[in-house]
Amino acid sequence: MPHVDSHASLNTSQTGFRLFPGLLDAARQRSLLEAVQGVLATAPAYHARMPKTGQRMSVAMSNAGRYGWYSDKDQGYRYIERHPETDRAWPAIPDPMMAVWWSVADYDHAPECCLINLYRETAKMGLHQDRDEAEMAAPVVSISLGDDALFRLGGTTRKAPTRSFKLASGDVLVLGGAARLAYHGIDRVMGGTSRLIPGGGRINLTLRRVTRPIGR
Ligand code: SIN
Ligand code: FE2
Repeated sequence: MPHVDSHASLNTSQTGFRLFPGLLDAARQRSLLEAVQGVLATAPAYHARMPKTGQRMSVAMSNAGRYGWYSDKDQGYRYIERHPETDRAWPAIPDPMMAVWWSVADYDHAPECCLINLYRETAKMGLHQDRDEAEMAAPVVSISLGDDALFRLGGTTRKAPTRSFKLASGDVLVLGGAARLAYHGIDRVMGGTSRLIPGGGRINLTLRRVTRPIGR
């Protein structure tokens, strides 16, 4: 059983890392969930594959915004402008997601991707950095919906020590500044801890700026 830190110790521990427990009330969580369902109706969830091995990721994904995050065996991690299966442009980032970005990002430009991660049953996400974006001055803003998850946060090298803490529905986390390239992942989702999502599970939304704004 990994050590689970209390929230209080976290915000001061690493510059640019900010956690807002319970920032989003039940009504905002429901409007985000409805917006996710709207995106999935036109951009169905898919399972990306690991570069080289082609191993299927346990987390199902979709996207909103100009760019969507994708990975397959041959070309690996990247952003693409069209859904890999329907070949349609991704739907626009819905207003409830945009509102969260503007309230916490502390960055002047709009996000260009809202990656939707769908965790069912035993889905998890290995320790990784978010480094496929050209603009590292923008933070990654993460929204948790549904079941609790055990989130792992490390440093900017794979070997740096990590700490784990719980993310609950309505929590918002910002990885910016020195923490922008921090390793992170999801060890497990605690099934049955939330009733927000019909059928259970967890949804994580990450808002990202992908390109560098013109003139910078
Ligand atoms: C991610 O790193 O893309 C997802 C993190 C999470 O599910 O909280
Ligand atoms: Fe990530």
